[in-house]
Amino acid sequence: MSAPAPAGATSVAGLLGEIADVGRDATRGGWSRFVYADAELTLREWFVEQAQRRSLEVETDRNGAIWAWRPGTGPAGAAGSPHAIVTGSHLDSVPGGGAFDGPLGVASALAAVDLLDARGVRTERPLAVVAFPEEEGARFGVACLGSRLLAGAIDPDRARGLRDADGRTFAEVAAGAGLDVDRIGPDPARLAGIDAFVELHVEQGRGLVDLGQPVAIGSSILGHGRWRFSVTGEGNHAGTTRMVDRRDPMVVAAGIVLAARDAAVAHAEARATVGRVVPVPGGTNVIASRVDLWLDARHPDDAVTAAVVAEIERQASRLAAAQGCAVTLTEESYGGTVHFDADLSGRLARVLPDAPVLDTGAGHDAGVLASAIPTAMLFTRNPTGVSHSPEEACEDADAEAGAVALADVLERLLQEPVGVS
Ligand code: GLV
Ligand code: MN
Ligand code: MN
Repeated sequence: MSAPAPAGATSVAGLLGEIADVGRDATRGGWSRFVYADAELTLREWFVEQAQRRSLEVETDRNGAIWAWRPGTGPAGAAGSPHAIVTGSHLDSVPGGGAFDGPLGVASALAAVDLLDARGVRTERPLAVVAFPEEEGARFGVACLGSRLLAGAIDPDRARGLRDADGRTFAEVAAGAGLDVDRIGPDPARLAGIDAFVELHVEQGRGLVDLGQPVAIGSSILGHGRWRFSVTGEGNHAGTTRMVDRRDPMVVAAGIVLAARDAAVAHAEARATVGRVVPVPGGTNVIASRVDLWLDARHPDDAVTAAVVAEIERQASRLAAAQGCAVTLTEESYGGTVHFDADLSGRLARVLPDAPVLDTGAGHDAGVLASAIPTAMLFTRNPTGVSHSPEEACEDADAEAGAVALADVLERLLQEPVGVS
């Protein structure tokens, strides 16, 4: 790898330090930065300001992604001219998440721009840093909503109708944030102008810790999806309703949680998680009338994921019948296993010969965009190996190593003659 950031360039840790207090969640711990809520809007403003400080040309696309362009010197020369190289990640978080999932990729991209400037790199190709909205799907339920809209991987009508926990639609919330929601949807012209997308992300496991390396190249993303079970029973009084007279959907929900665990452990490499359970109306002395619970299931083989979900559904129906309840299952999103572009990943490997190659069980905008354009990923070491939690971590020196690796990769990709993609 080349030399680290010269004095004067902004460090990744310095950039992340500027936003460390944004969206801190005193109740859950960690950070809650939901798309188009105050904290995420503050981060979007911060990103625009950082881009402007670097004289990047900023635009927000039809789907709410912010693009900060470093124009090329080619004939078209301006932002959005073809054969662009793009890097970036997201600014939103899961509820009570860590500080690095998303923002590390954005801050590393800004630091990489500083490094390219310091190295005097000027190329025909333009470079853009992008921040995608709602990567986690923490507010509207569908992960990677911004990149899915861009790539045509979700029907815009369905996206407009998605609701948050307060019942507000995506259309209403996005319009409130200034989007023309009639215009959301696929943007093939934008994608056609991009030759490569490279997303840097904090590693969400212990691969790099075990290998004693700071930076890895991504190989693949585990296929994954989200499903909602709705269990309906009879709302009633916790004290006056005898146990034998109950139709309690929470009992069914508890069984579904265990069935999910059991179905996943039956298949090597399968994962099944129920991370969110919402009883209605939700009172300590109230037997719920309905319980909604969300299942996240993952496996490299689509057929195995389908079999795991089918088995959980079978158990859910059995449990519901035994309790006098009813249950429905709705698929909310799905994406099969993604293998990143072999040629692009090979080019990353030539720039970073010491970097190991790792797969990931986590979803990313790079995985969605892989269906449309060549994409690749870099992972920066996470000493705890923990993610989607305040325990997620990244040491300053590793964050700088990640930014240098990203700058090295971008420099090489930008210098490829136009026509090589
Ligand atoms: C996002 O990080 C996911 O893997 O769900
Ligand atoms: Mn995440
Ligand atoms: Mn992420």
